[in-house]
Amino acid sequence: MLKLPGLIDPHVHFREPGATRKEDWDTGTSAALAGGFTVVLAMPNTKPPIFDAQTLDIALNAAKLKARCDYAQYLGAGPDNAEIVASLADKAAALKMYLDMTFGELRLDDMTLWMPHFEKYPKEYPIVVHAESRSMAAAILFAAIYNRPVHIAHISLKEEILLIKAAKEKGIKVTCEVCPHHLFLTQDLSGLRSGRKEVRPRLATQKDVDALWENLNIIDCFATDHAPHTLEEKDSENPPPGFPGLETALPLFLTAVSESRLTIPDIIEKMYTNPKKIFHLPEQLETSIEVDEDAKYKITAAEQFTRCGWTPFEGWKVKGRVSRVVLRGREAYRDGKILVEAGYGRNIRDAL
Ligand code: DOR
Ligand code: ZN
Repeated sequence: MLKLPGLIDPHVHFREPGATRKEDWDTGTSAALAGGFTVVLAMPNTKPPIFDAQTLDIALNAAKLKARCDYAQYLGAGPDNAEIVASLADKAAALKMYLDMTFGELRLDDMTLWMPHFEKYPKEYPIVVHAESRSMAAAILFAAIYNRPVHIAHISLKEEILLIKAAKEKGIKVTCEVCPHHLFLTQDLSGLRSGRKEVRPRLATQKDVDALWENLNIIDCFATDHAPHTLEEKDSENPPPGFPGLETALPLFLTAVSESRLTIPDIIEKMYTNPKKIFHLPEQLETSIEVDEDAKYKITAAEQFTRCGWTPFEGWKVKGRVSRVVLRGREAYRDGKILVEAGYGRNIRDAL
């Protein structure tokens, strides 16, 4: 058994409030524990979106009752809430800005709407941007102009990783994350029905995937972007974009370790040390996970805790299984069973 720190996922979508048929704080945090994560940072594109004190309370009250692992909730940047979200910063994971089209209502396309957020959001927290390609370049320019940390969510393209590399060399305060699906899948993926390939950012080309692997040292974090939509929705006329990812990320990365494409120190750095530093997360005492590095098995949605009922990695052969999770002194997961009750999870931004 290999012992690792409790992992941190800085990017998940639980659908509560608003769409608990896809996921809620209970099933989402159960999936997290089963995947080896002891902290998750939840995105604000719920219904309603989380963008002021009242909506933050709605999400945090649901989380308090139902979460089984530790968590924090993001605030969403809207056209006129810069002052409000800045005043709530200490209670939130960080600020999320949607600069490109995706699932939900929080898009900000006019740069004059970005400015107040960059001016006002406290600099000790990053602004996390969904910004692809040239919008990503604009977000990096904003980081430089306002001299503040910006974290680029789910990068997927060669041009993105190369520009981030150049920006880091100039000392701009930019960090980034990459999702397993952008490291293990390409747009030519056969065998998946078309709705099940929909994700934002879209799956990219082999050239893009290769560039991400070649520049692992530039990638600060691995994040799942766990974005559950039901199988029925994914196979419908109008499939919403998004993949579940919490329960498949670590097995995929451990498999990459067994193939010498990655190392255990890479996993610890990108799934614990760096997210903890970037988001100023507290130490979780008496918290660790155990993995069986030699366990070989096939990924199947039937064994998952997520409510969405599918995975793009169905049938993939992997090597490496989470066998045990200890969270703040309690055994929270062992051999396929969640052992802590709903409500055990804590908001890591609550004063201790
Ligand atoms: O594929 C995606 N799904 N990308 C996003 O940016 C949003 C997410 C979701 O919430 O479903
Ligand atoms: Zn997302």
